[in-house]
Amino acid sequence: MTASVNELITTAPGASCDADLAEGPWAFDLSPGYGPGASEDDVIPDPVVRPGQLPVAYQRMSDDELHARIRAAKEALGERLVILGHFYQRDEVVQHADFVGDSFQLANAALTKPDADTIVFCGVHFMAETADILARPEQHVILPNLAAGCSMADMADEDSVEAAWEELMELYADEDTSDGRASVVPVTYMNSSAALKAFCGRHGGIVCTSSNAATVLEWAFEQGRRVLFFPDQHLGRNTGKAMGVPLEQMPMINPRKPGLGVEPQELLDARVLLWPGFCSVHKRFTVAQIDQARAQHPGVKVVVHPESPMPVVDAADAAGSTDFIRKFVAASEPGDVIAIGTEINLVNRLAADYPDRTIFCLDPVICPCSTMYRIHPGYLAWVLDGLLEGEVRNEIVVDEDVATHAKVALERMLAALPK
Ligand code: 13P
Ligand code: SF4
Repeated sequence: MTASVNELITTAPGASCDADLAEGPWAFDLSPGYGPGASEDDVIPDPVVRPGQLPVAYQRMSDDELHARIRAAKEALGERLVILGHFYQRDEVVQHADFVGDSFQLANAALTKPDADTIVFCGVHFMAETADILARPEQHVILPNLAAGCSMADMADEDSVEAAWEELMELYADEDTSDGRASVVPVTYMNSSAALKAFCGRHGGIVCTSSNAATVLEWAFEQGRRVLFFPDQHLGRNTGKAMGVPLEQMPMINPRKPGLGVEPQELLDARVLLWPGFCSVHKRFTVAQIDQARAQHPGVKVVVHPESPMPVVDAADAAGSTDFIRKFVAASEPGDVIAIGTEINLVNRLAADYPDRTIFCLDPVICPCSTMYRIHPGYLAWVLDGLLEGEVRNEIVVDEDVATHAKVALERMLAALPK
């Protein structure tokens, strides 16, 4: 029997989650000091994004009432509405989604319903922004709880990336680019603000997700000598390493330090310049957990998300996006034992879907991604009821100029095909 996420939050020995997560998100969204972020280690962005307060009537509704309202609204809105849900969403939300997928699949799914007036994105802020950029201008994109951010995305802000870029441009100014290849190509992980996607669009760069990072890096190496990869150092390092880039050619820059904290010669020799961002959920996975899983379950298969640190990816049997992990489990045999290094809602769902296999999370006390977790059925019911009343609540609107350039970088990604 799989433990519910709330049971894990409240009862796991040594659990590191904030016990507030077992409450409705409205109970802690507005409390001082608990801004957007995935764990207690998060850097809280400034200014902090505060959600609107969920009306008390919705906070008090029973689960049954909320689900009934969501179903009724869906029925009434019909083809005018499409609900997208990321794999990390709680089951209570996933059950209402028309599409469930990884961030690449959901970016594409946003394109497959051009006739819908409204896309309700049950995921995090950067995903809803991406949907708005790719959607038709008349389509509305809603993020049910505006506090559903991504702490990793918050680790790269536009000013810091611009400043680092200028330093690099100065350093590489004398380089011979007569072969048409740029000195450096910016590559942003999907988990980033629309402003950074626009930065990539303006500077000959591209977006990647965890499911196409190698294809995108191949594309980038055709356009330039090296890549500036942000915000996730781990995805950048793991992907570069798998493509044969030596570690010494993947220095991690420090945007706060003079000279980016790296010797000029190292910057000149670099192929992948890594930004120091990380995911608070995936950085918790360790090689010791894998060793323990192998000791306790001889023959266990270990699959992790590439946002995990490099030694963890190296020690695992496989690494890939959330959809890769789902397919890895689907391809396993009854009786197999599989240890997974990713967010707990997805692990628990896979364990429930494949009861004839032993499936568990590598970290026995892992938290849910607390920002994904902020999409509660209460918020979903509230925004859908708003649509029935003719009101678009919690709409995500990306500035037109930003959207135009971000779309260039996203379309390069959608067009990039594996060799
Ligand atoms: P996927 O692209 O694999 O869905 O991952 C998104 C994410 O935020 C993982 O932490
Ligand atoms: Fe962001 Fe994904 Fe990590 Fe959540 S799990 S903080 S969405 S990178």
